[in-house]
Amino acid sequence: MDTYQIITVPAPVLRETAQDVDRVDDAIRRQMDIMLETMYEAPGIGLAANQVNMLNRVLVMDVSRREGPDAPKDPICMANPEIIWKSEEPSVMEEGCLSIPEQFAEVQRPAKVRVKYLDYDGKQAELETDDLLLSHCVQHEIDHLNGVLFVDYLSKLKRDMMIRRVKKLTKGQDIM
Ligand code: NI
Repeated sequence: MDTYQIITVPAPVLRETAQDVDRVDDAIRRQMDIMLETMYEAPGIGLAANQVNMLNRVLVMDVSRREGPDAPKDPICMANPEIIWKSEEPSVMEEGCLSIPEQFAEVQRPAKVRVKYLDYDGKQAELETDDLLLSHCVQHEIDHLNGVLFVDYLSKLKRDMMIRRVKKLTKGQDIM
C-alpha cells in the first residue's frame, strides 16, 4: 500500500485552508485509504489532508490505536466535516501532532462536539463524541483543515520553542 509523506512545521501548507470536496468519489476514497495507511504507519490517531500536502477537506482518524498496534482497527473517514454543536463543558488533554513530531502539550477544547460530514461512501453522516480522545482528535483534525495547529492554543513563547525544536529535529531531511 502506498503512503504519503507527512509534512512538518513550518511548511506553509499547514497554514492554508483546505477546500470542500464536491463529492466522495473513487479518487477521494483512494486518498482516504492512503491517508489511513500513512497514519497507521506513522503511527498516529488522526491525519488531515494538509499534512500530506493536499488541500481538500478530508481527514481520517482511528482512536482504537491507543490500545496498541494490535487492537482491532476502527477507522473513521470524513470529507467536508463541520462542527454543528459544541458542549460548554471543557476538556483538557495532552495533544501531539504528526506534523509537530515529539512535541506535546495540554490543550483545552469543548468536551463534546457533534460533527456533520460525508462518510467513505459519500453519505451524509453525523458523529457525536462521547469519547474525550475522539473529541479532541476530531477538533484537532478539523483545525488542520483550517490551517490551525494545536500549538496555536499555547503561548507564543511555547509555540516558537516547539517549532524551533522540530526544525532542528527535521534538519537535513527531505521534508517540505
Ligand atoms: Ni495534527
